[in-house]
Amino acid sequence: MEKIIEESKQGESLVLEHNPENKKKLFIESYGCAMNFSDSEVVASILATNGYNTTSVLEEADLVLVNTCSIRDKAEQTVRKRLEKYNAVKRRQNPKMKVGVLGCMAERLKSQFLEQEKIVDLVVGPDAYKDLPNLLQEVEAGNDAINVILSKEETYGDISPVRLMSNGITAFVSITRGCDNMCTFCVVPFTRGRERSREPQSIMDEIKDLWDKGFKEVTLLGQNVDSYLWYGGGLKKDFVNASEMAKATAVDFAQLLEMAAVAFPKMRIRFSTSNPQDMHEPVLHVIAKYPNVCKHIHLPVQSGSDRILKLMNRLHTRQEYITLINKIRNIIPDVEITQDMIAGFPTETEQDHQDTLDLMEYVQYNFGYMYAYSERPGTLAGRKMEDDVPEETKLRRLQEIVDLQRKHSGQRTQMYVGKTVEVLIEKVSKKSENDLSGRNSQSLMVVFPKENYKIGDFVNVEITSCTSGTLIGKAVGYSEMN
Ligand code: SF4
Ligand code: F3S
Repeated sequence: MEKIIEESKQGESLVLEHNPENKKKLFIESYGCAMNFSDSEVVASILATNGYNTTSVLEEADLVLVNTCSIRDKAEQTVRKRLEKYNAVKRRQNPKMKVGVLGCMAERLKSQFLEQEKIVDLVVGPDAYKDLPNLLQEVEAGNDAINVILSKEETYGDISPVRLMSNGITAFVSITRGCDNMCTFCVVPFTRGRERSREPQSIMDEIKDLWDKGFKEVTLLGQNVDSYLWYGGGLKKDFVNASEMAKATAVDFAQLLEMAAVAFPKMRIRFSTSNPQDMHEPVLHVIAKYPNVCKHIHLPVQSGSDRILKLMNRLHTRQEYITLINKIRNIIPDVEITQDMIAGFPTETEQDHQDTLDLMEYVQYNFGYMYAYSERPGTLAGRKMEDDVPEETKLRRLQEIVDLQRKHSGQRTQMYVGKTVEVLIEKVSKKSENDLSGRNSQSLMVVFPKENYKIGDFVNVEITSCTSGTLIGKAVGYSEMN
C-alpha cells in the first residue's frame, strides 16, 4: 500500500510558474498517496503545453481537476464534498468552468460520475493522462469525455513533470506503476493496474535534470518499488516469457538504486513503498553501502496475526516478516522502520489484535499510518468477507495501536538525544521563522536555530531534546554532503 501524503497537504491546490503564452487556467487538487501528487505534476506538464497555466483561485479556473484516492471510504467522501463545492462555484460564479475527476476514484467508478451522477465533465483514469488534450476537445464540443483504460506500458517516462508541490529541494520520481499483489482489502490493483517498470535511463535523466535544477533529494516512487524490473518493457508478470538476452540484461531495484546512488553521490535517495515479500537482501546491502541512500524503510505489515495475514493474502507469515526485520537491522544498524496497520479486518479477534501489538513491541517502529478497516467495493474482502468487527471495537483497537506507536515513536526519537545527525534543510520551521527544519537520513524531522544556514544546505545537527515526532538541536557545521 502507498504511504498517504501528510494530512496538511491533502487537497492542496498546486501552482507552477506562469507561462505568458498560456491563456487558460487550471486548478488542480490532489488527494491520496505520493504517486497521485506526482501524477498531478505530469498532468500539469501535459496541460502546460496545451494552453493552461495553473491557478490557486478556484473561481477563476477554466478547468478544475481533482486527482482522487479510493483507498478508504473517507477519502472518497472528501472528494465528493469537493465536487459539490466545484459545482456550486460553477453554477453561481463561473458557468463555463469544466470539472474533471482523475486518479483512482475515476478508475473505480468510471462512467458513474458522468451518466448517473452528472457531476463532472470528464473522467480520466491514472494511465490516460496523455489523452487529456483530446478529451478536453470533446468537452469543448459539448460531449462527455472519459478514458479509464489501464495500460500495459504507460509509465509517463517520456514526460518531464513540472514540480508543483516542490520546495525546490526534494522531489518524487516515479519508477513503477501498478501492483500485482492482490491483497484482499486493497483497491490499488484495480485502480492502477498490473505492475510495470519505467526504463532506467529515463529515471536517471529525470534525476539528472532535478540535480541540475538544484534539487538535493529524490524519492523513487512506486506502489511496490522492490518489485521494479526493467527488461525492455512490458508487464512484470510477463518477464518469465522474455528472451534470454532480455533476462540477462534486466535491471532490478537493487541495481537501479545503486545506479542512482553512484551517479548522484551528493544527492539523497529515498524510496517508497516496500512490500515485505518483495524486499530481498541485495537491496539492503545497497542501502547500507551508500551514505546517500537514506536509512529509512517503510515496510507495511497491516497485521501481526498469521491468520489475518493469510486472509489479507499478504504473501508472508509473521515469522517471515520478523526474519526480514532482523536481517534489515543486522545489515543496516542505523535504520528506522515505519509501518501501515489495519485494525478490525473481518473476523479479527482479540487475540489477533494482541498479536499485532506484540509485533509492534518487537519491531519498535519509528512511525506508522494506522487505520480502522474500511471495506472497499470490488475487492475480495469486500465481496467475500463480512465486515463483522463492530465499529466501536475497531476504533478501540485502533486507539490501542496508535497509543503504542506514540510510545515507541517517543522512545525512538529519545535515542537520538546527545547524537549528531545530518539534516537536509527543507524549510523554515512552521513554529518560528528563526528556526529551520529538515529531515535526517532516517526521515525524522529535525528543528534547529537558523543562524546563517539556508534551505538546501546539508548540516550536522547536535540533538539536545525531542518530542515524540521531532528532534530539536543546534547546527554544528556543514556536512560532507554539501
Ligand atoms: Fe495494495 Fe497489497 Fe499492492 Fe500494497 S502490495 S498496493 S496493499 S495490493
Ligand atoms: Fe494512491 Fe489512493 Fe490510489 S493511495 S494508488 S491514490 S487508491
